[in-house]
Amino acid sequence: MFEQASCWIDGKIVPAAQASVSVFDHGFLYGDGVFEGVRFYHRKAFRLPLHFKRLRRSAAALQLRIPLSFVELDTAVAETIAASPLDEGYLRIIVTRGVGVLGINPASCPRPGVIVIADQLQMVSEAQRSQGVRAIIASTRRLRPDQLDSRIKSLNYLNAILARIEANVAGVEEAILLNDRGAVAEGTADNLFIVSDGVLLTPPATEGALAGITRQTVLELAAGAGIAAREALLTPYDLYNAEECFLTGTGAKLIPVREIDGRKIAACPGPVYRHLSQAFADLVRRETGG
Ligand SMILES: Cc1ncc(COP(=O)(O)O)c(C=O)c1O
Repeated sequence: MFEQASCWIDGKIVPAAQASVSVFDHGFLYGDGVFEGVRFYHRKAFRLPLHFKRLRRSAAALQLRIPLSFVELDTAVAETIAASPLDEGYLRIIVTRGVGVLGINPASCPRPGVIVIADQLQMVSEAQRSQGVRAIIASTRRLRPDQLDSRIKSLNYLNAILARIEANVAGVEEAILLNDRGAVAEGTADNLFIVSDGVLLTPPATEGALAGITRQTVLELAAGAGIAAREALLTPYDLYNAEECFLTGTGAKLIPVREIDGRKIAACPGPVYRHLSQAFADLVRRETGG
């Protein structure tokens, strides 16, 4: 199952089969912790400083101390990649609250733990990436920022998981979550873009989406290519009438969407998606020395 995984736990590379955390770790007990997912290509992590910045901000919001400097975290990532048999893969960097007593109080956890995992991650098949995936709009909603700010990349993914279960029950590949006001937030582990009247649109991160690094990269690539792009409040109506729709994420990369709630998306994969996914692949090659 994880033959190709390499794991770094609190300073040491550990064989994957023995890589474990305490049952008293509050990350395990309560989802109390934060994480990042990072891709590496040619053994080089893509846009690692941006992931470190988001990790630091997520941890700060939870008053969680990251017990390593960024230089030490960088070394941990380098050691994990060096221990991996893979040239290309996915890293998971986790900062967990650490071991404490059974009550939820984080004050009982004196030492946060750091874990880095390198493994493969394929979110969709190559056929699905070329033909597009089908999605539903889930009944599960993203929380409001005054309930839990979606910019915190925490270890609790339950509303994404509930939405994913809805997708499984409906027999489709992905679920799109709305926020409490019925505006489109994002997918279960990815951001969403549509093309409408030739303009590339994505919901603002304050509407219940994670401030995705791939999303930001795609917006930069669109600006560089002269494609009009902006953040916009979107509703299901906008998705049903989109000229194109696609998902972005570190795990996902760029995935075109061909159907939402049974409505066919006009072009899949469409010209804007094709252009941006090629530009993204070129950028990755340039930045990781491929
Ligand atoms: C809920 C959620 N939204 C969006 C994304 C995409 O963010 P990024 O492009 O930074 O990976 C992720 C990725 O992990 C995610 O978990």
